[in-house]
Amino acid sequence: MAAALELDRVTKTYGAMRAVDGVSLSIAPGERVALIGASGSGKSTLIRVASGLSLADRGAGQGIVRSFGVSVQEEGRLSREVRRARRHIGLVFQQFALVGRLSVLTNVLVGALGRMSVLRGTLGLFNEDERRTAYAALAEVGIAAHAAKKARQLSGGQQQRVAIARALVQGAKLVLADEPIASLDPKSAKRVMDTLVTMSRDHGIALVVSLHQVDYATAYFDRVVAMNAGRVVFDGPASKITAAFLTELYGASAEELILPSQFTAPAAPNAELVSAS
Ligand SMILES: Nc1ncnc2c1ncn2[C@@H]1O[C@H](COP(=O)(O)OP(=O)(O)OP(=O)(O)O)[C@@H](O)[C@H]1O
Ligand SMILES: [Mg+2]
Repeated sequence: MAAALELDRVTKTYGAMRAVDGVSLSIAPGERVALIGASGSGKSTLIRVASGLSLADRGAGQGIVRSFGVSVQEEGRLSREVRRARRHIGLVFQQFALVGRLSVLTNVLVGALGRMSVLRGTLGLFNEDERRTAYAALAEVGIAAHAAKKARQLSGGQQQRVAIARALVQGAKLVLADEPIASLDPKSAKRVMDTLVTMSRDHGIALVVSLHQVDYATAYFDRVVAMNAGRVVFDGPASKITAAFLTELYGASAEELILPSQFTAPAAPNAELVSAS
């Protein structure tokens, strides 16, 4: 079967900055991958390119993005099939927040049915079947009780779970989540991660989650892709990701990715001189 996500020689530059630098990656159907890396390493850019929200740089035979065999973009141009590809790609992004003034249930329905349905949603023009499907998804992520509330009345973690419900109703086969737990307290973060992984397991949905917190990456994922300065510097089993290995990959900037208790700063080359003075 075609890969859930296939990136081939994807580069994205902003001015002189190579936000993503020649990344090739393949993610199998149902596979779960954590994308880690320090701030500015290119995680969000990679996810935006993968979803077709950003165009990769032009270049013959480069910048190829496919999902389940359907082309998203190629050589810096959106594919004609991009709408078809995006139908099975669910997004759980902070910047794709819900529509705050609409109910939770409507957000799930609108997101699942596409932009043109916002009006339909506002007017409550959904049929019984659609509503039942949305309720079931909200129940699955544990917030059916909040279905009638306005989305803005929910906590950050609850809103992320609504976005997950939306992906379920959409029938997503690949979910891309960009820092879904970035601004959450540990308890809410755990609930969101549990919900994402359960969704992936129960429905065979491939999952790519960018994370700052390496401890979450290793607790929830078998495969970790680590980025640095736009490049993939590691792609392999989460079991290899130790504090020492991260320090090897990132030097002192590893500090950003590791719990303070686990971090041991690399010895300064002139440590003796410094302490002697
Ligand atoms: N729209 C843009 N215009 C110009 N530069 C950008 C743009 N988006 C990203 N960049 C630059 O590209 C690089 C990668 O940014 P990106 O947001 O992908 O990193 P990130 O790994 O998601 O970081 P963070 O962990 O802080 O979210 C950074 O140097 C950033 O400043
Ligand atoms: Mg980011």
